[in-house]
Amino acid sequence: MLKGHKTLIRPLDSDDIELFYQWYNDQEVNLWSSGAWPLNTLLSKDELEGRFFDPDSDEHRYAITNLQHELIGTLGFREVNIPAQSATLFIVIGDKNHWGQGYGTDALKTFLHFLFGQWNFHRLSLDTWDGNLRAIKAYEKLGFVLEGKLRDAHFVEGQYHDAVIFGLLRSEFFNHS
Ligand SMILES: CC(C)(COP(=O)(O)OP(=O)(O)OC[C@H]1O[C@@H](n2cnc3c(N)ncnc32)[C@H](O)[C@@H]1OP(=O)(O)O)[C@@H](O)C(=O)NCCC(=O)NCCS
Repeated sequence: MLKGHKTLIRPLDSDDIELFYQWYNDQEVNLWSSGAWPLNTLLSKDELEGRFFDPDSDEHRYAITNLQHELIGTLGFREVNIPAQSATLFIVIGDKNHWGQGYGTDALKTFLHFLFGQWNFHRLSLDTWDGNLRAIKAYEKLGFVLEGKLRDAHFVEGQYHDAVIFGLLRSEFFNHS
């Protein structure tokens, strides 16, 4: 288990699926995390379980809890490039009562220490769409640098939005924190 100031990061547990099912079918959570709503079909628990617990997946996913061990979100990395020592991160604080109170930043910071320190990554990236100001602020607080945009890559509630791509190198992270 990884310990931050406000959050804990632990391996997934099969009981986590109940809350993942709620979050990954929630309109507001989906809007912020991908800009996509409505979903074509609601995701089933079996589908989520298959996706999140697939041993052949290249995704490394963990649970985020508060210090009382209540599940509040999930984060992880995928698209690992071994020669370049790079990967792409993702994070969802699914419990809306925990938004905007520092939990996401704390979990990411703890995770970055783990990934740069223990996994020996050289570079990590993160992306979102340009209207997700809360996510952008959290990334920037951690030292992530805006590296580029994919113009009009998202269509959110009737409007095109750019995808924004952020990157962080190990040296920048340890100099910044
Ligand atoms: C994005 C997310 C991980 C951030 O975690 P969080 O715990 O909510 O964010 P934090 O409180 O750590 O940091 C957010 C910062 O943005 C600021 N903020 C919030 N809303 C804002 C807005 N509309 N405009 C500008 N800044 C805003 C907060 O004040 C805070 O900054 P501060 O600490 O300087 O006050 C979380 O909100 C989340 O999972 N949202 C839903 C899914 C998602 O967007 N995932 C990421 C994109 S893939």
